[in-house]
Amino acid sequence: MDKITIAIDGYSSCGKSTLAKQLATKLNYTYVDSGAMYRAITLYAIENGLASKEDVDASRLIPQLDKIDIDLKFDSKTGGVTTFLNGRNVEEDIRTMQVSEVVSHVSVIKEVRAKLRASQQELGKRGGVVMDGRDIGTAVFPHAEMKLFMTASPEVRALRRFNELKEKGKNVSLEEVRANLVSRDNEDTSRKEDPLIRAEDAVVLDNSNLTPNEQLALVLSWVKERTI
Ligand code: DC
Repeated sequence: MDKITIAIDGYSSCGKSTLAKQLATKLNYTYVDSGAMYRAITLYAIENGLASKEDVDASRLIPQLDKIDIDLKFDSKTGGVTTFLNGRNVEEDIRTMQVSEVVSHVSVIKEVRAKLRASQQELGKRGGVVMDGRDIGTAVFPHAEMKLFMTASPEVRALRRFNELKEKGKNVSLEEVRANLVSRDNEDTSRKEDPLIRAEDAVVLDNSNLTPNEQLALVLSWVKERTI
């Protein structure tokens, strides 16, 4: 069976990465978390005093982009993902609320998007890739054989994310998580460069009332239709 490219876009915390990892494991594809790449650049900017919740110093960040090396490792057996920033494992550090609160501001920078789009296209060149993000079906892989646009109600998404953070021992309130989701949705859909929009040929998947297993079975049936 030919290996296709699967592009998954959608709002924050609607389970894109859970589905993407399951698909990659099941199909023996590579999973690429494009959001982790935006988060890694954001972490670099925060650590180097170039970005905070209030402000991003794009004019100083842009000339440093060449110095930022991001590497993603995916273990298709366990579904485990690790993100490296200049050789350092930052998988935990990029998932904090601090990074979540700054990442949308860094993602609007054209030069940041151009750098990451080029690496994402390189990673997907040979097919057999599941990539999730905000502009995968529109800007990164406009010719992907399978495009999904995922959505779920803000309440369902906030609760899922809140439980995830709580499990990791993070001390945040549900309201804080919900506010962050809503503000990221707004920024991601309204930015000038590659905003989050549904590609015309993307299948909409609202998983508010689907279990992960029901969702996986449904999507695998769609993938099958596109690979035979
Ligand atoms: O998928 P995530 O929530 O980890 O992504 C974090 C942020 O990165 C998201 O709010 C917007 C940005 N992003 C983007 O602009 N384009 C992508 N393809 C992926 C993420």
